[in-house]
Amino acid sequence: MELVTNRELMQKAFREGYAVGAFNINNMEFLQAVAGAAGEEKSPAIIAVSEGAIKYAGFDVLVGMVRTIASMTSAPMSLHLDHGKDPAVIRQCIEGGFTSVMIDASDKAFAENVRVTKSVVQAAGARGVSVEAELGRLAGIEDAVSVAERDALLTDPAQAADFVRQTGVDSLAVSIGTSHGAYKFKGESVLAIDRVREIRDMIGIPLVLHGASGVSQATVSKAAQYGAVLGKPAGVPDDSIREAIRFGVAKVNIDTDMRLAFMASVRETLVTKASEFDPRKILGPARDAIRDVVKGKMRLFGSSGRAA
Ligand code: G3H
Ligand code: 13P
Ligand code: ZN
Repeated sequence: MELVTNRELMQKAFREGYAVGAFNINNMEFLQAVAGAAGEEKSPAIIAVSEGAIKYAGFDVLVGMVRTIASMTSAPMSLHLDHGKDPAVIRQCIEGGFTSVMIDASDKAFAENVRVTKSVVQAAGARGVSVEAELGRLAGIEDAVSVAERDALLTDPAQAADFVRQTGVDSLAVSIGTSHGAYKFKGESVLAIDRVREIRDMIGIPLVLHGASGVSQATVSKAAQYGAVLGKPAGVPDDSIREAIRFGVAKVNIDTDMRLAFMASVRETLVTKASEFDPRKILGPARDAIRDVVKGKMRLFGSSGRAA
């Protein structure tokens, strides 16, 4: 299929009460894994590309690869810039074949976030590209010692309403206590899931949950068995993801879980097949492991079977 926008994928998900997974890719194997899962699960999927991924693989290589694989896949997919910060890269994506961009000015003061986001909405709108912005600081909230400190990190519902009214964004990434990477919580997960509902009620557009990886302990153990040194990683429980989707999250971002599955598989192959040096026999099983992770997420998010 031709690439579609996040707006199209997320509006349907928001209406029907499920979420579309946004899966980060940096190379062919991760992309094939996501597209393969989308085809097998008959699920929509968002191909997320960061500024780091563009630097690593090259803009034209990524766009060409994603377009080609999307055209061979029967499920709808979008090509989305994840955490766009550099205006030149955002412009390149809008003009160069991405169907969706995220402008992440969440580290700026409110007024500056509004100003920068508004200008991206204008540029993207002219090309039919959809826009996601972020409000709130993506950080664990368990270290906050006071309510005021905790609230300073989380997205404020009234401010979110003001932000959406002023900018006209299609979707908003919110902070409810998740963070990027494999070390989200020191013990039990601490999340402010109720905020999602409060924000949705105030703004009425689809919400996005970043830092949503579950960090499978089975995968962590397998990686450790084959030599990985990971300390005590911890992710977001599946039940929290289900609740967030029920309250209005229509896009869930996953990167870490795919990275962990990839790393555990490569380690296993290198240890158990110590004489193997054909890259296809090392990366092939890793690609299968990533595809299985993505299929599991599509089921968890309720997007399986929603391709039509
Ligand atoms: O949120 C960021 C994504 O996990 C992408 O990470 O900037 O290392 O490509 P990256
Ligand atoms: P994880 O690190 O939890 O996979 O989050 C990825 C993400 O939010 C990408 O934007
Ligand atoms: Zn993110």
